[in-house]
Amino acid sequence: MAEVINGKLVGEEVVAKVKEATASLLEDGGAQPGLAVVIVGEDPASQVYVNSKSRKAKECGFHSEQHTLPAETSEADLLGLVEKLNADPAIHGILVQLPLPAQIDSAKVIQAIAAEKDVDGFNFTNVGKIGVGELDSAFVPCTPAGCMILVERVHGKDLSGLTAVVIGRSNIVGKPMANLLLAANCTVTIAHSRTRDLATLARTADILVAAVGRPEIVKGDWVKPGATVIDVGINRVVSAEGEKARLVGDVAFAEASENAGAITPVPGGVGPMTIAMLMANTLASAYRASG
Ligand code: GUN
Repeated sequence: MAEVINGKLVGEEVVAKVKEATASLLEDGGAQPGLAVVIVGEDPASQVYVNSKSRKAKECGFHSEQHTLPAETSEADLLGLVEKLNADPAIHGILVQLPLPAQIDSAKVIQAIAAEKDVDGFNFTNVGKIGVGELDSAFVPCTPAGCMILVERVHGKDLSGLTAVVIGRSNIVGKPMANLLLAANCTVTIAHSRTRDLATLARTADILVAAVGRPEIVKGDWVKPGATVIDVGINRVVSAEGEKARLVGDVAFAEASENAGAITPVPGGVGPMTIAMLMANTLASAYRASG
């Protein structure tokens, strides 16, 4: 049976280090890290994520601001807020929660965030740095950064010679994840909805990352014996009428655990790491601003 990778615990370790480093930055006369989280509209899942980000920032000793805008907010008004936050010296990290309502061009908003405050790592400067392996000065997107820490807990930092398959090609997870695995010397394949014979490809992976947003699509026999399985999916499913929704990943956990060497659970795997890495990125930004 696989080792279950406890992302909640590793996330708490990261947050504890961020708290300590924040206290010593303040003692040394540096800036108090400031995080601004912006949400447009009332999507319940987004509200839960945003509230936990703001709460965790406070817990780290950060200055934490939440800007909740109505669903009908115009693109111009949102861009105006981003400009204000770009210019605010108390803010080191700006996160605009996605998805945004249809009247707003998300790409335009993401590109408007100053690169040095883009703690999500989504704008072209940060994407480009990750693409060329300039990881030290980049903001690495929080979910893939958290996945890498979990992988390193199993394999160490140098993943030379390991084969990785990333299922999913999103800009938020799949593509940056593939770049990070490549930078760590893995042989990487990105698979997606048009990939032929996904099961056979997945079985070649020493490290299998599932980031497609489809409940339990990765079956037990897709997993190579001894592989490390990282499940990025958070899917709400209701199996019977009247039953409470439960959270499942993109991996059929029980089956996959029989083949995997190590596997992340849902919940309690990648999710807590995403928030922890947002705190780490905001702290890094405050350090850079403090000179
Ligand atoms: N929506 C889902 N995941 C994310 C994320 O990592 N950052 C932002 N800004 N929005 C998201």
